[in-house]
Amino acid sequence: MRDEQLLELLTARPGEYISGEEISRLMSVSRTAIWKGINRLKEQGYEFDSVSRKGYRIVRYPDRFDEVSLRLQLSKSTSWGQPLHLLDSIGSTQDVARELAEQGAVEGTLVIAEEQTAGRGRQGRRFHSPPGRGVWMTVVMRPQQPLQYTSQLTLLAAVAICRALRNVSGLDIGIKWPNDLLIDGRKVCGILVESAAEDGYVRYALAGFGIDVNLAPEDLPEDVRPVATSLRIQRGEPVDRTAVVTAIMSELESLYGLYNRDGFAPISALWEALAFAIGSQVTVKTLQGPLQGIARGLGPNGELLLEQLDGQVLPVYSGEVGF
Ligand code: BTN
Repeated sequence: MRDEQLLELLTARPGEYISGEEISRLMSVSRTAIWKGINRLKEQGYEFDSVSRKGYRIVRYPDRFDEVSLRLQLSKSTSWGQPLHLLDSIGSTQDVARELAEQGAVEGTLVIAEEQTAGRGRQGRRFHSPPGRGVWMTVVMRPQQPLQYTSQLTLLAAVAICRALRNVSGLDIGIKWPNDLLIDGRKVCGILVESAAEDGYVRYALAGFGIDVNLAPEDLPEDVRPVATSLRIQRGEPVDRTAVVTAIMSELESLYGLYNRDGFAPISALWEALAFAIGSQVTVKTLQGPLQGIARGLGPNGELLLEQLDGQVLPVYSGEVGF
């Protein structure tokens, strides 16, 4: 059975339920084959209502970026996002961006994919990136600075995305150190900055953002379901992905301008204002074991300052915060 045939049948009578029995008769396939076909279409971003004895009905079609409108919106609000590489299905936008950067791509070059089949997160984790539901994007940056400042860029990106998503969705989104964005304690966006250096200086940095924009609960992998969410789940309605990309690029460009002009201090202040748990007791899981203390804010390189019981302040350079 071809999925296209099944789709044709279901779209031929919009809004109507078609029973498994009828589909099975019209297509001469088993009910199990239909169920498998429906599941494959779900993976492509279709959503169905299935009611016993009535059958299946399409309730949502996969969303696709409209390239013309994305280019137009970007050009109206930022000089970044050009060139834009809008791809369909790709392993990881980080790899595409790396090739482009190696070939000399300019700062602000943007790679977006409708789907990633090998999206990656920090610490070698996989990053689930189903088609048409999220924003999976990488921006090429070329900061003229020593490699050790790259963590500042990650924090800058977290601020830019947090501000952009708050604007577009109206949701109360905050940052968990160093750079996860959370709503109601659940992760809605992950950030991965990878860089290439020469003689200790950055040649380019690839700022990769994975934003769960319109994912339904069942689109989230089971293992992360209790700790992840999407803008759509939180808002109860879909959010325009073009508006999300445009707002992010515009915030990113303007904060990066501020950073190049005035250094990390203003970015750090913005980060602290959007961060959870500043002034509260936290536990940080580090490779050396858990550390406890009161999160006091960021140090000059973006490290978390953790006040110990004896009043000493400990800088933490990497780890995961729990509240
Ligand atoms: C994390 O939460 O650990 C970071 C996730 C970063 C995911 C984004 S999606 C776009 C870009 N391409 C990737 O393969 N990863 C980043």
